[in-house]
Amino acid sequence: MAEKKKMSVAEILAAARKTDGGATSDEAAPKSSDAAEAAPAAESSPAPEKPAAKPAAKPAAKPAAKSGGGRPSVAEMLAAARAEKQGGAKPAEKPAAAKPAAAAKEAPAKKPAPAKAKEPVAAKAQAPKDTGSILAAARNPSKPGPMTKAEAARQAPAEKPKPAAKPVKSKLTVPPMPAKPDYAKPKPKAAAATTTDRRGFLTGMMLGSCLGIGFVSMSTTFGLWLLGTARFMYPNVLMEPPSQFKVGFPSNFAPGQVETKFVGQYGVWIVNYEYNGEPQIYALRTVCTHLGCTPNWLEGEQKFKCPCHGSGFYKDGINFEGPAPRPLERYAIRVADDGQLEVDKSKLFQEEIGQWSDPASFVAV
Ligand code: FES
Repeated sequence: MAEKKKMSVAEILAAARKTDGGATSDEAAPKSSDAAEAAPAAESSPAPEKPAAKPAAKPAAKPAAKSGGGRPSVAEMLAAARAEKQGGAKPAEKPAAAKPAAAAKEAPAKKPAPAKAKEPVAAKAQAPKDTGSILAAARNPSKPGPMTKAEAARQAPAEKPKPAAKPVKSKLTVPPMPAKPDYAKPKPKAAAATTTDRRGFLTGMMLGSCLGIGFVSMSTTFGLWLLGTARFMYPNVLMEPPSQFKVGFPSNFAPGQVETKFVGQYGVWIVNYEYNGEPQIYALRTVCTHLGCTPNWLEGEQKFKCPCHGSGFYKDGINFEGPAPRPLERYAIRVADDGQLEVDKSKLFQEEIGQWSDPASFVAV
């Protein structure tokens, strides 16, 4: 049988002719030719159903006579070759399929019938088996073994185990929540927005004020720096009254008179009096010789009195009381070209050193 499988159709036909060559050569030749002619017909077109019914009655007598000695006939070989060509039947099933085919060797058209009967078996054997079908078959004790997908789909829903009833849970009794305090309650949106706006406004004011203060300070500093620079461009000049000034004609001063109207402006007394018995007009400086205070002319007492420490001076300027160590000082005085008395404060004359005898320190009357 193993050798038959490997043989082609031509080899099988050649071997069949050799086998049937002797006594049955005359009969077999036309039969083999008929079989050869019928084989293509069977290959080209599917076998009709009517011939498939007839072999069931005839094969019972003929096969037993012609296949004597257990040797396969040509028809059996052709049937085996066709079966092999169509899909490869199992070796164990071929003899069973070949026997009915051999019984119908006189009617080759009837041979495909056994082959047709084999197809469902082969299809069943080759049906795809997946894991689900195998498991379903294992769970189903009524039909052990693998099954097709369709069978598994049909059986799976019915065999699904019902879910176990869930245990009824006892409801917990939850105590009611305490009421929220006022501070925990949500504030109204309008109030929150107002607070936010106020904070933003205050923050903006603070930032703006800080920036404003910074800019104002910077501007002030820059302005002061400019003023200092401008002042630096001008020279330091002491604006003082002129040292020489005119106080009027000598006739304007009566004998014994102390004129005080020039104290505030020029710091000088114009006195028409006498010194060492000689009448003269002179200009006394209004500065105390003690510590520099300005004495007052006391008309009732006819003396100069210093308010600071009480020094007293006579009308001619000689000190007589208080801490003043020396007489008052004189400015230079002269009669100007216009006849007026002209005082010059740039020149001083002191009595203790004999300068009052200088003609520049008085105007004789
Ligand atoms: Fe005039 Fe002292 S300052 S008495």
